[in-house]
Amino acid sequence: MNDHHATSTLPFVTGYGYTVHENASMLDRTTFRVPARAAMLIDVHEFDAIPCLLDDAAKQHREVLILGGGSNVLFTRDWPGVVLALRTRGLDIIEQHVPGTPGDAALVRAAAGEVWDDFVHWTLAHGLRGLENLALIPGSVGATPIQNIGAYGVEVGEFVDAVYAYDRTTSSIVRLDRAACAFAYRDSLFKRDSGRYLITAVDFLLPRERALRLDYDGVREELAAMGVDSPDARAVAHAISRVRTRKLPDPVTTGNAGSFFKNPIVSADLATALEGEHARMPLWPLADGLAKLSAAWLIEACGLKGFRQGDAGVSDQHALVLINYGGANGAQLWALARHIQQTVLARFGVALEPEPLVI
Ligand code: EPU
Repeated sequence: MNDHHATSTLPFVTGYGYTVHENASMLDRTTFRVPARAAMLIDVHEFDAIPCLLDDAAKQHREVLILGGGSNVLFTRDWPGVVLALRTRGLDIIEQHVPGTPGDAALVRAAAGEVWDDFVHWTLAHGLRGLENLALIPGSVGATPIQNIGAYGVEVGEFVDAVYAYDRTTSSIVRLDRAACAFAYRDSLFKRDSGRYLITAVDFLLPRERALRLDYDGVREELAAMGVDSPDARAVAHAISRVRTRKLPDPVTTGNAGSFFKNPIVSADLATALEGEHARMPLWPLADGLAKLSAAWLIEACGLKGFRQGDAGVSDQHALVLINYGGANGAQLWALARHIQQTVLARFGVALEPEPLVI
């Protein structure tokens, strides 16, 4: 007999705004494409369904995992509880001209389940700037504030006006302004207080006029290769998409979750000592006696770029990206990640922290 049916007060059945799948395969639900099953997977299409679903899960003592686009999670085992997959849609310009904002900004609201890259192109088509450097990042809009996604010199937190979320501690919808989100490098309130907030929508403040950011290595070169002399935001998005396509494996064809490790932040003293030994090591000085190192460089310097254990490997295009060559499971990818961490720690004394959520 199925245990949970014996104990549940309210059996989960598909209802308005959500669809229930029991003993569901998660293989197609994460970009790593590893085998794992969820005891219950619920696709949520309407926000209104969320409080009741969380309430029912709590009554049944089922642990809840929130899933967005699945581009930042690695399952190393089955999930015995409920996975809530947010698939809510909706894009709106809330205010065309927000008074007192530089660059004549518009306020735009995006539902959590919107596809990030589609949203970026939607904003550009409406003449809005800011997100062009973040083109082609996989995942959903609602996941972007959690780890404050960043690429090519821009972080999403710069443009977030507010995040709407269901607060599981107070059982209420909250609006958190940018300051409350406490954005930092690949970090935010949502990551630090993981599991508390279920993001339902994000408001972005996007200017119509704003200097383009072209200083990150390779961006100007790509525009030149495209024959673009005076780029607009759409050309920048196009150039960034070309660079990403070339440098990063495509999650649609090759299982991966982008950067597997964060660039480590270490003491300036350690960074200087390492720089003394390795003249070509990239190093970005930060405030407060700290410095950021390149995780990709450290991994490559250990000879691990392109390294493979069965179907789990390190990309030969970019040393920060772990690859599922087809048949790897999450435990094998995690074993590879641990091997990389241990090797880099032994060689450089630097601890690498995973970027995705590892279950
Ligand atoms: N490098 C190597 N070997 C490699 C790749 C890079 O030594 O295989 C060194 C090079 O010196 C290079 C430097 O690392 O100049 C920086 O490389 P890159 O520009 O690719 O940036 P990254 O720091 O490795 C970060 C983000 C990426 C983002 C790029 C571009 C993190 C953890 N990752 O990578 O984000 O696309 O910058 O802005 O901050 C992601 O988070 O999934 C992701 C792909």
